[in-house]
Amino acid sequence: MPFNVTPLDSARPDFAGLATGIDLSEPVNEALASQIDDAMNRYAVLVFRGQPLTQDQQLDFARGLGPLDVGFKRVASPHARLKYQELADISNLNEEGEIADRNHRRIVGNLANQLWHSDSSFQKPSARYSMLHCVVPAAKGGETEFADMRAAYDALEDDRKAELDGLEVEHYALHSRFFLGDTDYDEAQRAALPPVQWPLVRQHAGSHRKHLYIGAHATHVPGRTVAEGRMMLVDLLEHATQRQFVYTHSWQAGDLVIWDNRCTLHRGRHYDLSQHRELRRATTQDIDRTAATAATAATAEHGAN
Ligand code: OGA
Ligand code: MN
Repeated sequence: MPFNVTPLDSARPDFAGLATGIDLSEPVNEALASQIDDAMNRYAVLVFRGQPLTQDQQLDFARGLGPLDVGFKRVASPHARLKYQELADISNLNEEGEIADRNHRRIVGNLANQLWHSDSSFQKPSARYSMLHCVVPAAKGGETEFADMRAAYDALEDDRKAELDGLEVEHYALHSRFFLGDTDYDEAQRAALPPVQWPLVRQHAGSHRKHLYIGAHATHVPGRTVAEGRMMLVDLLEHATQRQFVYTHSWQAGDLVIWDNRCTLHRGRHYDLSQHRELRRATTQDIDRTAATAATAATAEHGAN
């Protein structure tokens, strides 16, 4: 059966598709990777159902789509539960695999994921594809929502678009943690991922459509007062996450959802933290595979120094 994608909501033909026809445990060749890119460039969110994956299979699949990102783990201490640091442990379990205490740092991470964000927007390169795989869904709640930043941009009035043109936004990895009152980071951790700036409006390389680039890591708008910039960000977030721009994914074990962090925001929804919820995420950097392959080849040629 060939790779095929149909819109999950026929009223929204260019956002969130159901993908069939691929076995995710099989190696991804360049032809398939570029078919997936094409579908991602149109839909930004792809849902695969009924595909239980081992950690190795999940990482192999992700590697087929681009070089892997490790993101926030540069600040956080390494986790011991999963086999690879390239996998993000999106669960409420501690190192022993039991439900973590309410004050365990992983729980703050879980809660920070419930704020609208784009993965690794606090670093350069940021994240391109996140691939979240469900091992154990929450008994109730714990959905993940995705908001379409291209449609949200399109829906802005022309004078608003003109006002945003040329503005930059600063993003910082610990901003959402500080917001949640989690401030216990030493100087080295605070400096490990220095703030970066991105244009507020960007053009999506895969579709040439413009989109907003905002979310929980966005701290302020350089050139404006902090208060004015923050209110602008709050206002845009409210606009961009209205229901007509949002797809809500209700998890089943064996689901894999891929989203394009360049042009979407996502957030987890509330669930009972004393009940098991277990997902894991692999993420690619926003670098073209071909460029990454060329860089690796050049390093090999000139020696690894
Ligand atoms: C993530 C994330 C949200 C969720 O994995 O990057 O934000 O629903 N997850 O767990
Ligand atoms: Mn996330």
